[in-house]
Amino acid sequence: SLTEETVVVVLGASGDLAQKKTFPALFALYAQGHLPKDVHIVGYARTKMDEAEFHKRQTGHLKPPKDDEKLAKSFDEDVKGFTSISSYIAGPYDEDKGFQELNKRLEEIEDQRKSSGKTARNRVFYMALPPSVFTVVAKGLKKNCYTNDGDNRIIIEKPFGKDFESCREMMSALKAEWTENETYRIDHYLGKEMIKNLLVLRFGNVFLDAALNKNYVSNVQITFKEPFGTEGRGGYFDEFGIIRDVCQNHLMQTLSVLAMERPVSFSAEDVRDEKVKVLRCIPPIERKDLLLGQYAASGDKPGYHDDDTVPKDSVSPTFAAMVLWINNPRWEGVPFIMKAGKALNESKVEIRIQYKDVTQGIFTDISRNELVLRIQPSEAVYLKMNSKLPGFSTRAVPVELDLSYTKRFTEAKIPQAYEALILDAFKGDHSNFVRDDELDVSWKIFTPILHWIDGKDGEKPKVESYPYGSRGPEGIDEFTAKYGYKRIGNEDYQWPQTNVA
Ligand code: BG6
Repeated sequence: SLTEETVVVVLGASGDLAQKKTFPALFALYAQGHLPKDVHIVGYARTKMDEAEFHKRQTGHLKPPKDDEKLAKSFDEDVKGFTSISSYIAGPYDEDKGFQELNKRLEEIEDQRKSSGKTARNRVFYMALPPSVFTVVAKGLKKNCYTNDGDNRIIIEKPFGKDFESCREMMSALKAEWTENETYRIDHYLGKEMIKNLLVLRFGNVFLDAALNKNYVSNVQITFKEPFGTEGRGGYFDEFGIIRDVCQNHLMQTLSVLAMERPVSFSAEDVRDEKVKVLRCIPPIERKDLLLGQYAASGDKPGYHDDDTVPKDSVSPTFAAMVLWINNPRWEGVPFIMKAGKALNESKVEIRIQYKDVTQGIFTDISRNELVLRIQPSEAVYLKMNSKLPGFSTRAVPVELDLSYTKRFTEAKIPQAYEALILDAFKGDHSNFVRDDELDVSWKIFTPILHWIDGKDGEKPKVESYPYGSRGPEGIDEFTAKYGYKRIGNEDYQWPQTNVA
């Protein structure tokens, strides 16, 4: 665990990811006193700028926390403190010279501590970089900035390739320089509170675990909805599409923690062994189990093609629904419906487990049970169940058992995903980072349909257009119904029904 004498180097320090995610997370950890003692942050990027300009960019996205009065009060002072431990150095990504300069800077910082008897040189390299330079930077760092007087850690983040082959290639190149133990691959969904709760919910509740299998579950939906389009990020997005952007990583991680068997322990290797095992039971997604969409202009909202960074004839999907099957005794025959889309009607990420029909006979028309785990916004777990409407008549109505975090955990402060993960990396805990073999199995499941979408097999699949702000392509309800999903009541349960035969 790195508790003192650490330098964090943020590579790509002038970019979007660093400014929107990495620095705000480092700042939050700093303000809460969770960074190692004597920590120093060094930004590195190609852009030439002076320290003042760097600090401006570094802190441009920081906001006083809404859920913590004390931290909100000390915000200005914390920002000052944060910039006082941060410096910047410009240099190229593909020449030793830049990294040698960086190394000199790191040594200077480390040498200053020597007088107080602190000699360790612990270095954490955070790669907030475009994938095109991952490998060359990883090599440059290893060659020029690797220290033998302390721990070296490298944190990287998707995209890890574009398919099975390219991911393998990238991972092999990185592994030639950095050991698995030194490498922390971020999938920020693994840092989200509700995803981290999945193991406790599942294996800490007998009733819940007992009813999570093919005997009771009709279908599972994992849904990711965003109410905004690519908005200037089209250049990156178009090359990848929604499946590579969100499904193959974030939603697949969600699926694997949801569907895996009970691990032997909570240790990183035990948990990840189970995740890999369940993923290996999933065959590649079939063409017939796929629905694609792309958003179009609606009202004053732009279409995907109106984004200047998107090629005018692009057929890259901004919406995808697909079905995965898990061939093991627990889940055989249960469709896992994965849906993800941009420019939809709402912001929501959730897991929806729909149970099978209640045995008919005493009931004629009674709703199914549904267990919903809402990942964001507003974490919640709720169970849709049936209850007798109080009164003289015997009438079953759908109601809910509701664990909304804001109501139940009123004092809780939920850390942002990146905060949780960066802290784990300091602690040396790999549990919530992606192991290299997870990537292999996950890419195997997606690669055939991705190649089809890329046109590698000739004809490409159809991509339906949907209006910005809608629920997605028209065919979406029919698609989920085909795999057994039945809508329960209406959204707010105002659905009184007479259910007794
Ligand atoms: C990123 C994707 O990995 O995840 C984005 O590249 C997406 O397109 C984002 O918007 C979603 O993350 P979150 O935490 O906002 O759900």
